[in-house]
Amino acid sequence: MTYPDEPFPSLPAGKEELFAAAAAEYDRYRPGVPAEAAELLADTVRDLPDPTLLDLGTGTGQVPRALLKALPSLAYIEAVDWSRPMLDQARAALTPVLGDCTLSLIQTSADIYAPLAPLPGEERRTPDLITCCRAYHWMSGPDVLAMAHRIAAPQATLAIMGDGSLWTYEADWTQALRDLIQRYLGPGRRAGVLGDYPKPVRPFQEELADSAWSDVAEHPFPITRSWTPETVLGYLRTTSFAGAELFAERHAAFEEEARALLDELADGGSLLEEAVFTVLLARRPGGAR
Ligand SMILES: C[S@@+](CC[C@H](N)C(=O)[O-])C[C@H]1O[C@@H](n2cnc3c(N)ncnc32)[C@H](O)[C@@H]1O
Repeated sequence: MTYPDEPFPSLPAGKEELFAAAAAEYDRYRPGVPAEAAELLADTVRDLPDPTLLDLGTGTGQVPRALLKALPSLAYIEAVDWSRPMLDQARAALTPVLGDCTLSLIQTSADIYAPLAPLPGEERRTPDLITCCRAYHWMSGPDVLAMAHRIAAPQATLAIMGDGSLWTYEADWTQALRDLIQRYLGPGRRAGVLGDYPKPVRPFQEELADSAWSDVAEHPFPITRSWTPETVLGYLRTTSFAGAELFAERHAAFEEEARALLDELADGGSLLEEAVFTVLLARRPGGAR
Protein backbone atom coordinates (compact mmCIF):
# COMPACT_ATOMS: atom_id res chain seq x y z
CA MET A 1 0.00 0.00 0.00
CA THR A 2 1.37 3.42 -0.85
CA TYR A 3 -0.26 6.81 -0.54
CA PRO A 4 -0.60 9.40 -1.91
CA ASP A 5 0.47 8.83 -5.53
CA GLU A 6 2.16 12.18 -5.86
CA PRO A 7 4.90 13.38 -3.49
CA PHE A 8 3.35 14.56 -0.25
CA PRO A 9 2.19 18.15 -0.84
CA SER A 10 4.17 19.66 2.02
CA LEU A 11 7.55 18.24 0.94
CA PRO A 12 10.06 21.09 0.68
CA ALA A 13 10.88 21.79 -2.97
CA GLY A 14 13.84 19.79 -4.25
CA LYS A 15 13.96 17.28 -1.37
CA GLU A 16 12.21 14.57 -3.38
CA GLU A 17 15.08 14.51 -5.86
CA LEU A 18 17.74 14.25 -3.17
CA PHE A 19 17.73 10.46 -2.97
CA ALA A 20 15.50 9.60 -5.91
CA ALA A 21 18.12 9.06 -8.58
CA ALA A 22 20.16 6.79 -6.37
CA ALA A 23 17.51 4.23 -5.30
CA ALA A 24 18.62 1.24 -7.39
CA GLU A 25 22.31 1.83 -6.80
CA TYR A 26 21.61 2.48 -3.13
CA ASP A 27 20.22 -1.00 -2.79
CA ARG A 28 23.25 -2.49 -4.50
CA TYR A 29 26.09 -0.58 -2.89
CA ARG A 30 25.04 0.48 0.63
CA PRO A 31 26.13 -1.85 3.42
CA GLY A 32 23.19 -3.48 5.19
CA VAL A 33 22.40 -3.56 8.89
CA PRO A 34 24.84 -5.87 10.76
CA ALA A 35 23.23 -9.15 11.87
CA GLU A 36 24.21 -8.51 15.52
CA ALA A 37 22.38 -5.18 15.48
CA ALA A 38 19.33 -6.84 13.93
CA GLU A 39 19.38 -9.45 16.71
CA LEU A 40 19.44 -6.67 19.32
CA LEU A 41 16.39 -5.07 17.69
CA ALA A 42 14.63 -8.42 17.40
CA ASP A 43 15.18 -9.11 21.10
CA THR A 44 13.14 -6.02 22.02
CA VAL A 45 9.98 -7.54 20.51
CA ARG A 46 10.73 -11.27 20.28
CA ASP A 47 8.28 -12.30 23.01
CA LEU A 48 5.35 -10.22 21.74
CA PRO A 49 2.48 -11.71 19.76
CA ASP A 50 2.40 -10.21 16.23
CA PRO A 51 5.27 -7.73 16.59
CA THR A 52 4.84 -4.51 14.57
CA LEU A 53 7.72 -2.49 13.14
CA LEU A 54 7.59 1.13 12.01
CA ASP A 55 10.71 2.06 10.02
CA LEU A 56 11.22 5.78 9.37
CA GLY A 57 13.30 6.85 6.37
CA THR A 58 13.29 3.23 5.23
CA GLY A 59 15.12 3.90 1.96
CA THR A 60 15.35 0.57 0.16
CA GLY A 61 14.17 -1.33 3.25
CA GLN A 62 17.52 -2.31 4.76
CA VAL A 63 16.17 -2.37 8.34
CA PRO A 64 13.03 -4.44 7.60
CA ARG A 65 15.15 -6.84 5.56
CA ALA A 66 17.61 -7.43 8.40
CA LEU A 67 14.81 -7.72 10.94
CA LEU A 68 12.82 -10.24 8.89
CA LYS A 69 15.90 -12.45 8.95
CA ALA A 70 16.45 -12.07 12.69
CA LEU A 71 12.77 -12.33 13.58
CA PRO A 72 10.72 -14.57 11.29
CA SER A 73 7.67 -13.94 13.54
CA LEU A 74 7.60 -10.24 12.56
CA ALA A 75 3.93 -9.70 11.69
CA TYR A 76 3.56 -6.12 10.39
CA ILE A 77 5.91 -3.61 8.83
CA GLU A 78 5.06 0.02 8.17
CA ALA A 79 7.87 1.54 6.12
CA VAL A 80 7.88 5.33 5.74
CA ASP A 81 9.90 7.39 3.28
CA TRP A 82 9.19 10.56 1.39
CA SER A 83 10.92 9.27 -1.73
CA ARG A 84 8.73 7.20 -3.99
CA PRO A 85 11.65 5.61 -5.92
CA MET A 86 13.10 4.43 -2.60
CA LEU A 87 9.76 2.90 -1.62
CA ASP A 88 9.46 1.20 -5.02
CA GLN A 89 12.90 -0.30 -4.49
CA ALA A 90 11.97 -1.33 -0.91
CA ARG A 91 8.86 -3.09 -2.16
CA ALA A 92 10.85 -5.01 -4.78
CA ALA A 93 13.48 -6.04 -2.21
CA LEU A 94 11.08 -6.96 0.61
CA THR A 95 8.27 -8.73 -1.23
CA PRO A 96 10.20 -11.98 -1.83
CA VAL A 97 11.25 -12.27 1.83
CA LEU A 98 8.02 -11.25 3.58
CA GLY A 99 6.57 -14.69 4.25
CA ASP A 100 3.47 -14.13 6.41
CA CYS A 101 4.45 -10.57 7.32
CA THR A 102 2.23 -7.72 6.05
CA LEU A 103 4.03 -4.74 4.51
CA SER A 104 2.66 -1.20 4.20
CA LEU A 105 4.72 1.41 2.36
CA ILE A 106 3.86 4.98 3.17
CA GLN A 107 5.10 7.98 1.24
CA THR A 108 5.22 10.88 3.62
CA SER A 109 7.51 12.90 5.85
CA ALA A 110 8.42 11.00 9.01
CA ASP A 111 7.71 13.85 11.44
CA ILE A 112 4.08 14.16 10.33
CA TYR A 113 3.41 10.46 9.83
CA ALA A 114 0.13 9.23 11.31
CA PRO A 115 -1.26 5.72 10.87
CA LEU A 116 -4.43 5.25 8.85
CA ALA A 117 -7.59 4.58 10.79
CA PRO A 118 -8.39 0.86 10.73
CA LEU A 119 -11.21 -0.37 8.54
CA PRO A 120 -14.35 -1.59 10.38
CA GLY A 121 -13.55 -4.93 12.01
CA GLU A 122 -9.80 -4.36 11.63
CA GLU A 123 -7.56 -4.12 14.66
CA ARG A 124 -5.59 -0.89 15.22
CA ARG A 125 -1.87 -1.69 15.06
CA THR A 126 0.52 0.26 17.20
CA PRO A 127 4.27 -0.07 16.58
CA ASP A 128 6.20 -2.11 19.13
CA LEU A 129 9.50 -1.09 17.59
CA ILE A 130 10.23 2.18 15.79
CA THR A 131 13.50 2.38 13.87
CA CYS A 132 15.33 5.15 12.08
CA CYS A 133 18.59 4.16 10.41
CA ARG A 134 20.98 6.62 8.71
CA ALA A 135 18.05 9.00 8.34
CA TYR A 136 17.36 10.81 11.63
CA HIS A 137 19.78 13.65 10.80
CA TRP A 138 17.68 14.49 7.73
CA MET A 139 14.55 14.86 9.85
CA SER A 140 13.20 17.28 12.40
CA GLY A 141 14.32 15.20 15.39
CA PRO A 142 12.05 16.59 18.13
CA ASP A 143 9.01 16.33 15.83
CA VAL A 144 9.86 12.72 14.98
CA LEU A 145 10.27 11.85 18.67
CA ALA A 146 6.95 13.53 19.53
CA MET A 147 5.21 11.68 16.69
CA ALA A 148 6.70 8.37 17.88
CA HIS A 149 5.46 9.09 21.41
CA ARG A 150 1.92 9.74 20.09
CA ILE A 151 1.60 6.53 18.12
CA ALA A 152 3.80 3.84 19.73
CA ALA A 153 2.56 0.92 21.81
CA PRO A 154 2.99 1.58 25.56
CA GLN A 155 6.07 -0.64 25.98
CA ALA A 156 7.58 0.25 22.61
CA THR A 157 11.27 0.70 21.87
CA LEU A 158 12.69 3.38 19.60
CA ALA A 159 16.01 2.75 17.84
CA ILE A 160 18.12 5.43 16.17
CA MET A 161 21.03 3.92 14.27
CA GLY A 162 23.85 4.72 11.96
CA ASP A 163 27.46 4.11 11.08
CA GLY A 164 28.98 7.28 9.66
CA SER A 165 30.11 7.30 6.04
CA LEU A 166 33.20 7.16 3.88
CA TRP A 167 33.21 10.96 4.21
CA THR A 168 33.57 10.80 8.00
CA TYR A 169 35.75 7.67 8.26
CA GLU A 170 39.38 8.62 8.95
CA ALA A 171 41.97 6.64 6.98
CA ASP A 172 44.65 7.53 4.45
CA TRP A 173 42.54 6.30 1.55
CA THR A 174 39.36 8.11 2.61
CA GLN A 175 41.37 11.30 3.21
CA ALA A 176 42.80 11.09 -0.33
CA LEU A 177 39.31 10.46 -1.71
CA ARG A 178 37.85 13.39 0.24
CA ASP A 179 40.62 15.66 -1.07
CA LEU A 180 39.73 14.65 -4.63
CA ILE A 181 35.99 15.23 -4.07
CA GLN A 182 36.75 18.62 -2.55
CA ARG A 183 38.92 19.54 -5.52
CA TYR A 184 35.84 19.08 -7.71
CA LEU A 185 33.06 20.31 -5.43
CA GLY A 186 34.67 22.78 -3.04
CA PRO A 187 35.64 22.47 0.62
CA GLY A 188 32.21 22.01 2.25
CA ARG A 189 30.53 18.65 2.58
CA ARG A 190 27.75 18.78 0.02
CA ALA A 191 24.25 17.49 0.72
CA GLY A 192 22.76 16.84 -2.69
CA VAL A 193 22.16 19.64 -5.14
CA LEU A 194 20.53 21.69 -2.39
CA GLY A 195 23.61 22.87 -0.56
CA ASP A 196 25.90 21.85 2.26
CA TYR A 197 25.33 19.06 4.77
CA PRO A 198 23.16 20.13 7.72
CA LYS A 199 25.45 19.20 10.61
CA PRO A 200 23.33 17.84 13.47
CA VAL A 201 22.96 20.75 15.89
CA ARG A 202 22.78 18.54 18.97
CA PRO A 203 23.89 14.97 19.61
CA PHE A 204 20.98 12.57 19.13
CA GLN A 205 21.41 11.46 22.75
CA GLU A 206 20.61 15.00 23.94
CA GLU A 207 17.47 15.19 21.83
CA LEU A 208 16.39 11.82 23.21
CA ALA A 209 17.13 12.90 26.78
CA ASP A 210 14.84 15.93 26.31
CA SER A 211 12.04 13.83 24.86
CA ALA A 212 9.62 11.24 26.19
CA TRP A 213 12.25 8.64 25.06
CA SER A 214 14.75 9.55 27.75
CA ASP A 215 15.76 6.06 28.88
CA VAL A 216 18.62 5.48 26.41
CA ALA A 217 21.23 2.74 26.03
CA GLU A 218 24.01 2.91 23.45
CA HIS A 219 25.10 -0.29 21.67
CA PRO A 220 28.18 -0.04 19.42
CA PHE A 221 28.89 -2.82 16.90
CA PRO A 222 32.41 -2.65 15.43
CA ILE A 223 32.48 -3.93 11.88
CA THR A 224 35.26 -4.27 9.30
CA ARG A 225 34.25 -3.65 5.71
CA SER A 226 36.30 -4.47 2.62
CA TRP A 227 35.77 -2.11 -0.29
CA THR A 228 37.01 -2.39 -3.85
CA PRO A 229 37.53 0.65 -6.10
CA GLU A 230 34.37 -0.38 -7.98
CA THR A 231 32.16 -0.64 -4.86
CA VAL A 232 33.50 2.68 -3.54
CA LEU A 233 32.54 4.38 -6.82
CA GLY A 234 29.10 2.74 -6.71
CA TYR A 235 28.67 3.82 -3.08
CA LEU A 236 29.72 7.40 -3.86
CA ARG A 237 27.04 7.65 -6.54
CA THR A 238 24.41 6.93 -3.83
CA THR A 239 25.60 9.64 -1.46
CA SER A 240 24.49 13.22 -1.05
CA PHE A 241 28.16 14.30 -0.80
CA ALA A 242 29.41 12.78 -4.08
CA GLY A 243 26.36 11.83 -6.16
CA ALA A 244 26.71 12.12 -9.95
CA GLU A 245 24.39 15.14 -10.19
CA LEU A 246 26.77 17.28 -8.10
CA PHE A 247 29.54 16.90 -10.68
CA ALA A 248 27.23 17.47 -13.68
CA GLU A 249 29.28 17.06 -16.89
CA ARG A 250 32.49 16.51 -14.88
CA HIS A 251 31.25 13.26 -13.30
CA ALA A 252 32.96 10.95 -15.80
CA ALA A 253 36.25 12.81 -15.29
CA PHE A 254 35.85 12.56 -11.51
CA GLU A 255 35.16 8.82 -11.65
CA GLU A 256 38.16 8.23 -13.89
CA GLU A 257 40.46 10.10 -11.48
CA ALA A 258 38.89 8.45 -8.43
CA ARG A 259 39.25 4.96 -9.93
CA ALA A 260 42.94 5.55 -10.69
CA LEU A 261 43.51 6.89 -7.17
CA LEU A 262 41.67 4.00 -5.48
CA ASP A 263 43.42 1.39 -7.67
CA GLU A 264 46.74 2.82 -6.56
CA LEU A 265 45.73 2.94 -2.87
CA ALA A 266 44.27 -0.57 -2.90
CA ASP A 267 47.40 -1.88 -4.62
CA GLY A 268 45.70 -5.09 -5.77
CA GLY A 269 44.02 -5.65 -2.39
CA SER A 270 41.00 -4.10 -0.77
CA LEU A 271 40.34 -0.84 1.02
CA LEU A 272 39.43 -1.40 4.65
CA GLU A 273 36.92 0.52 6.72
CA GLU A 274 36.79 -0.10 10.46
CA ALA A 275 33.27 1.15 11.03
CA VAL A 276 31.15 1.24 14.16
CA PHE A 277 27.44 0.71 13.69
CA THR A 278 25.79 2.35 16.69
CA VAL A 279 22.29 1.63 17.92
CA LEU A 280 20.66 3.98 20.42
CA LEU A 281 17.85 2.04 22.06
CA ALA A 282 15.38 4.36 23.74
CA ARG A 283 12.39 3.68 25.91
CA ARG A 284 9.95 5.80 27.85
CA PRO A 285 10.60 5.60 31.58
CA GLY A 286 7.98 3.34 33.08
CA GLY A 287 6.66 2.58 29.59
CA ALA A 288 4.57 5.75 29.93
CA ARG A 289 2.60 7.04 27.00
C1 LIG B 1 20.56 7.55 3.92
S1 LIG B 1 18.97 6.88 3.54
C2 LIG B 1 18.80 5.57 4.76
C3 LIG B 1 17.91 4.46 4.30
C4 LIG B 1 17.81 3.24 5.20
N1 LIG B 1 17.20 3.57 6.48
C5 LIG B 1 19.17 2.59 5.39
O1 LIG B 1 19.70 2.59 6.52
O2 LIG B 1 19.72 2.08 4.42
C6 LIG B 1 17.89 8.12 4.19
C7 LIG B 1 16.44 7.91 3.77
O3 LIG B 1 15.63 8.76 4.55
C8 LIG B 1 14.62 9.36 3.72
N2 LIG B 1 14.22 10.59 4.39
C9 LIG B 1 15.00 11.65 4.71
N3 LIG B 1 14.29 12.55 5.39
C10 LIG B 1 13.02 12.07 5.51
C11 LIG B 1 11.83 12.54 6.12
N4 LIG B 1 11.80 13.71 6.79
N5 LIG B 1 10.72 11.77 6.06
C12 LIG B 1 10.75 10.57 5.42
N6 LIG B 1 11.85 10.08 4.81
C13 LIG B 1 12.98 10.81 4.87
C14 LIG B 1 15.31 9.52 2.38
O4 LIG B 1 14.38 9.64 1.32
C15 LIG B 1 16.16 8.25 2.32
O5 LIG B 1 15.49 7.21 1.69
